[in-house]
Amino acid sequence: MSILIKNGRIITASEDYIADVYIEGEKVARIGQNLDVKADETIDASGKLVMPGGIDPHVHLDMPFMGTFSSDSYETGTRAALHGGTTTVIDFILQTQGKSLQSAYDEWSGRANGTAYGDYSFHMAVTDFNEDTKKEIAHFVNDLGITSFKTFMAYKGALMIDDRQMIGLMNEVRDQGGMVTVHATNGDMIDFLIAKHKAEGKLAPLYHYLSQPEVTEAEASGRFSDMARYTGVPGYIVHMTCEDALNAIRRTMTKNYRVYAETCIQYLILDASLYEQNFEGAKWVMSPPLREKKDQAALWGGINQGSIQVVATDHCPFMWEQKLMGKDDFSKIPNGHPAIENRMELLFSEGVNKGKITLNKFVEVSSTNAAKIFGMFPQKGTIGIGADADIVIFDPNEEHTLSAKTHHMNVDYSGYEGWKLKGKVKQTILRGTLAIDNGEVKIKKGYGKFIKRNKVSNLI
Ligand code: URP
Ligand code: ZN
Ligand code: ZN
Repeated sequence: MSILIKNGRIITASEDYIADVYIEGEKVARIGQNLDVKADETIDASGKLVMPGGIDPHVHLDMPFMGTFSSDSYETGTRAALHGGTTTVIDFILQTQGKSLQSAYDEWSGRANGTAYGDYSFHMAVTDFNEDTKKEIAHFVNDLGITSFKTFMAYKGALMIDDRQMIGLMNEVRDQGGMVTVHATNGDMIDFLIAKHKAEGKLAPLYHYLSQPEVTEAEASGRFSDMARYTGVPGYIVHMTCEDALNAIRRTMTKNYRVYAETCIQYLILDASLYEQNFEGAKWVMSPPLREKKDQAALWGGINQGSIQVVATDHCPFMWEQKLMGKDDFSKIPNGHPAIENRMELLFSEGVNKGKITLNKFVEVSSTNAAKIFGMFPQKGTIGIGADADIVIFDPNEEHTLSAKTHHMNVDYSGYEGWKLKGKVKQTILRGTLAIDNGEVKIKKGYGKFIKRNKVSNLI
């Protein structure tokens, strides 16, 4: 099978030019002007942007969490991702405390294998680091190609590990050539504030926000960065939301060490005023919570400065009925927000169109940097000869409106209902196969494959 994409404006993290792209099998075979080549299928991309498929390194599909499961499966979640131009996702395997990493891996790969539409990988979330867990790390890095290990400094009593475990894990992961990633908020402080608010009868979604003030994230981000610097492990902070957390990692840079940082699309464009409306605010109950306008400005600044490298989603959808589990108690609202399908179009419309980031930066933070940081570059994350032909053909001028009535995620509300965007995904190509064509799915369930990742470094 071969595809010729003609006359598109090719954007990578560092280039911007008009050319044809010829795809043979799963790979990009030729790039050039007026390519004289016959293909099984030709796509006219005049007036369109031709960009690397998006990589979302932070999603939770079919995840057991807070007494329920996130509502998108690998099937529905990766299909929705392709509609929105994201061709590869990295999900999280959660270790059950007291059990092995391997048993969690077996469970998660059983759910994903043969059901995903899009390509996927896993981070291994270590929730119980001990002598047995330590022995498993090498196998994950060297044999399974799972080179990043997620930790939680919060969700006390469920997923949180303490600093002793963190240091032990960091040492082992460093020795094996992997990376430690973190949900960096202070679990003890948050636990205290949740209990305090509940004791005072403050039970509305607003108190989810007030139980996780900025200091809880800044403190943990600084502590994690100091531990990463001390041990020398490559470190990555997921879903950074606020100015003080960003300043905490900037301080580490003054000590000649750098941890990577990811923010998520929602933190760039939504703010905490959404919690002021009674239970409706549950739609945006996520951890960390939405912040203030000044934090949005700081995050855009961090992206342009290069201290934030990735814009992900932390896609963790729950049906409204599931959100209602916390109707009378904010601490029981399943935490999470749906965006896997919306990330690229929102970032383009709110970021590129509004002059906050350039087109090259758009590609860098939505695709290339994640590929580099997580050991998939140059197979993924760019348009280059020999790379996987994961390509989005994007109309920068088409206007459309987001709605739960038309999205493809398995969730019955949208955090962006009625938002008017300019810029739309027209075609998504995954490993040389047209996966989405003008909203129509062209591949079968199970086409998505597990991507083995390489060892990582902190030197991108
Ligand atoms: O609210 C969130 N973020 N839910 C998913 C779990 C996590 O902390 O990433
Ligand atoms: Zn988290
Ligand atoms: Zn998450």
